[in-house]
Amino acid sequence: MAALDNRLNNSTKSSGLLQATDYLAGLSGGAWLVGSLVISDWITPETLLQAMTKMSFPESSLDTWGMLMKIVLDTASKNSAGFQTSVTDSWGRLFHYLTGQAGLNYTDPTWSSIQNLSSFTSHEMPFPIILSTTLFPGTSFDVSQITHGNSQLEMTPYEVGSWDSTFRHFANTEYLGTPLDAGKPVDQCVKGYDNAHFLMCTSGSIFNADFIGAFNIKGWDKVFVETAMKYLEIVNQGEFQVGMFENPFYKMSDMKTNQTISRGLYLYDGGFDQSQNIPFIPLIQPEREIDLIIATDPSTDTLGETGWPNGQSVRSAQAKSDLELGDRVFPRIPDADTFLNQNLSHQPVFFGCNTTGLTPYTNTTQYSPVILYMPMTTLTYVSNFSTGKFFYGAEDLYRTYTNAWNMMTRSNGTDDSNWDKCLGCATLLREFQRRDSDIPSDCQSCYEAYCYN
Ligand SMILES: *[C@@H]1O[C@H](CO)[C@@H](O)[C@H](O)[C@H]1NC(C)=O
Ligand SMILES: *[C@@H]1O[C@H](CO)[C@@H](O)[C@H](O)[C@H]1NC(C)=O
Ligand SMILES: *[C@@H]1O[C@H](CO)[C@@H](O)[C@H](O)[C@H]1NC(C)=O
Ligand SMILES: *[C@@H]1O[C@H](CO)[C@@H](O)[C@H](O)[C@H]1NC(C)=O
Ligand SMILES: *[C@@H]1O[C@H](CO)[C@@H](O)[C@H](O)[C@H]1NC(C)=O
Ligand SMILES: *[C@@H]1O[C@H](CO)[C@@H](O)[C@H](O)[C@H]1NC(C)=O
Ligand SMILES: *[C@@H]1O[C@H](CO)[C@@H](O)[C@H](O)[C@H]1NC(C)=O
Ligand SMILES: *[C@@H]1O[C@H](CO)[C@@H](O)[C@H](O)[C@H]1NC(C)=O
Ligand SMILES: *[C@@H]1O[C@H](CO)[C@@H](O)[C@H](O)[C@H]1NC(C)=O
Ligand SMILES: *[C@@H]1O[C@H](CO)[C@@H](O)[C@H](O)[C@H]1NC(C)=O
Repeated sequence: MAALDNRLNNSTKSSGLLQATDYLAGLSGGAWLVGSLVISDWITPETLLQAMTKMSFPESSLDTWGMLMKIVLDTASKNSAGFQTSVTDSWGRLFHYLTGQAGLNYTDPTWSSIQNLSSFTSHEMPFPIILSTTLFPGTSFDVSQITHGNSQLEMTPYEVGSWDSTFRHFANTEYLGTPLDAGKPVDQCVKGYDNAHFLMCTSGSIFNADFIGAFNIKGWDKVFVETAMKYLEIVNQGEFQVGMFENPFYKMSDMKTNQTISRGLYLYDGGFDQSQNIPFIPLIQPEREIDLIIATDPSTDTLGETGWPNGQSVRSAQAKSDLELGDRVFPRIPDADTFLNQNLSHQPVFFGCNTTGLTPYTNTTQYSPVILYMPMTTLTYVSNFSTGKFFYGAEDLYRTYTNAWNMMTRSNGTDDSNWDKCLGCATLLREFQRRDSDIPSDCQSCYEAYCYN
């Protein structure tokens, strides 16, 4: 993002693309990034990076104790106000107090209050979207039970809901928490429930019973997770490891899902839908009319070997899209072996350039966006950190940031002096195709270099 941001001094030839971007979507850790940038009234990624270097888990047990007491009290007071709480509430408060140390300029905002930020009203920031995965009522909370049939819920400053064919309903974010029956308030309206860190941490709530085992967490990280979880669990009704929300869709009659039968809406980490680690689904909705998605992939798909992406998150989005929007609306993504063998995991690649193999959205002549896939790879720093790593030193942060900068700029153009042009050509491809216009030779050579067909 920094490499595309024209607010930086050492800006690149591609800087300004971020300012031309309409949407910014994130899930899981990505929701923390998107959320932290926007609730601070759209600070630069560099400002956030500098702030994050000041963040640390309090060293002295007195500080730790004080912070954990505040968390317990906050969650208890939500609970005593009549709302069901879960460990996700406490997780959100922990995140709030930890990032609070970083000196970022926000109070304790709601997600809907982003509507009132000056960078939002002046359209300087892209429209932020964060995602979580729904769990069906009456099912096990085991993440391995989640399929593409579980709806992805998107949370924007205006609305919370899902585009999935069984769902297709949205509720007003500002009034989240209001008990509703068939869409009508049962009692008084509730405001303030949509706490930004609560929503960000619902998206980023990968912890569950197996968290320590699944990521082989050791040392300080293990002590931290175990201690934090012990305290976070104090006000945890029903031992829920999931996010518990008052269900705004309770008793809605025109939805083809049983999410309407329960007063509670159960939400999990946004990446739990079959490794869909990149938030493609909100961005491939025809209503949003998007021409290009820039997708960065820091997934650790090859976990157990080396922890690098192998395209799983894109294949998973393809499967969900096939189910929801029809076959071949989303470009075909090669299997993991082909992906790795063809070196698609080491440099940027454009998917879906050639519309011959694509199906337009139902009843339209419109195609899904071109995807500029940017895998995390080692250019100048080995930055394949495990999801279970909690503590990052300033050097890890800066060198990872610069490595990503080098990925997005193709090493400041030294790996490809046409790269800035090629980024521009990626944004123009769908428009060239709509107009059936001749493709400039510069762009033609970019498509030949970067399109996967
Ligand atoms: C960036 O440029 C602005 C305007 O020229 C200047 O005020 C600011 O100090 C510079 N920041 C850094 C970190 O160099
Ligand atoms: C927060 O605001 C203060 C006062 O306007 C400013 O000095 C400081 O640099 C800001 N911090 C960040 C991280 O933007
Ligand atoms: C925006 O600010 C106005 C004025 O302070 C306030 O009345 C309104 O509730 C705010 N909107 C949101 C969504 O927070
Ligand atoms: C809700 O639907 C899901 C998916 O079809 C199913 O697995 C689950 O058992 C249903 N829950 C109830 C309470 O009927
Ligand atoms: C990161 O990748 C390197 C090789 O590219 C490997 O040696 C290392 O074990 C990996 N680290 C993690 C945490 O998986
Ligand atoms: C894969 O791509 C990387 C980065 O562009 C390059 O260094 C490497 O030589 C490529 N490997 C193959 C087998 O093409
Ligand atoms: C698109 O794919 C079709 C069918 O595979 C092929 O005939 C055509 O030449 C391709 N077009 C471009 C621009 O690559
Ligand atoms: C496509 O058009 C048909 C006929 O007008 C209509 O029945 C169907 O609902 C439309 N499908 C979508 C997804 O809009
Ligand atoms: C850009 O410049 C700032 C100082 O203005 C520096 O802190 C930062 O590391 C630079 N970014 C990169 C990627 O080198
Ligand atoms: C590219 O430029 C940035 C910003 O000046 C710098 O931090 C980085 O090291 C450069 N990358 C390479 C590969 O030289």
